[in-house]
Amino acid sequence: MSLKLNNVTVIGSGTMGNGISHVFAQCGFNVSMMDINQTALDKAIATINKNMDRLVVKGTITEEVKMQSLSRIKTYTDMAAAVKDADLVVEAATENIDLKLNLFRQLDQHCPEHCILATNTSSISLTRIASVTKRPGKVIGMHFMNPVPVMKLIEVINGYGTDAEVTQTIYKLSEQLGKVPCVVNDYPGFIANRILLPMINEAVLALQEGVAGVAEIDTIMKLGMAHPMGPLQLADFIGLDTCYSIMNVLHMGFGAQKYAPATLLANMVQAGYLGVKSGEGFYKYTAGSKDLVVSERFASRVWK
Ligand code: CAA
Repeated sequence: MSLKLNNVTVIGSGTMGNGISHVFAQCGFNVSMMDINQTALDKAIATINKNMDRLVVKGTITEEVKMQSLSRIKTYTDMAAAVKDADLVVEAATENIDLKLNLFRQLDQHCPEHCILATNTSSISLTRIASVTKRPGKVIGMHFMNPVPVMKLIEVINGYGTDAEVTQTIYKLSEQLGKVPCVVNDYPGFIANRILLPMINEAVLALQEGVAGVAEIDTIMKLGMAHPMGPLQLADFIGLDTCYSIMNVLHMGFGAQKYAPATLLANMVQAGYLGVKSGEGFYKYTAGSKDLVVSERFASRVWK
């Protein structure tokens, strides 16, 4: 028998956190969204409002559904208050192991005993995260994809000790959210990023070696493989710092040279060229413009 979930707390209100809150609220769940400052939470509510407006304009939801969904989201800066009645927590904080371990220690302390603790980690070991709690059977991965309201997949990750009943509950819940769950085991990068990130890294290596330019690499993958975005644009979209950190997890976890992050990727991260979030990566982003402009740093057709 699977557990009943009504109250969901989302930790973190960034791109993933606000997308996850959006989807739960629109599907009828009571959402408590928690972050360390109210400004971030207010910004997240404004983003959810804007993304729900797109759905109203398209006729996917009515204005009334939008208003009801928004009214189900409460914001908190205090963890104990945010998780007091939680049946499920989805942690979507920054991808940093010490931060996540610390959060899970606190969540374990403050959440009701029956509460399932899920993490949206894109690469950190579930088993390691579960090990800092007294409820490893109730710790699981729910890896949503960006943009959360649009992308259908939830990669459900079992830690070494995750209870089968918890996996079943999260599987059914993912379907209730209109998503398609796929269950995988706890290995570095799981499946999504074990396959995606080496492809992105290979694109950066090809650019670094001067095999082709940014636009050529992306066009080849978009038109040749029917990918919605080329690998370099996708790297900018994910964030080059996140790509770099996932490559490091793969490199350390498997110990194989094929997972070593490209030097160009490392340099861009050190120099603060992080993609969309910093305004420049392989492309340059101007607020309000949808044009895709290759960064001047890579402007020559074949960059060397
Ligand atoms: N909220 C709600 N709807 C959104 C949205 C958002 N944040 N962003 C886009 N949309 C909707 C648009 O309204 C539009 O809807 P319709 O087609 O019904 O009109 C649709 O999505 C397409 O949007 P756009 O027309 O603006 O742009 P697009 O056609 O270029 O698509 C995209 C944008 C969906 C992002 C597409 O480019 C895409 O699928 N890119 C690849 C995304 C991807 O690979 N994500 C996974 C990243 S990896 C990850 O997340 C995990 C990790 O651990 C690294």
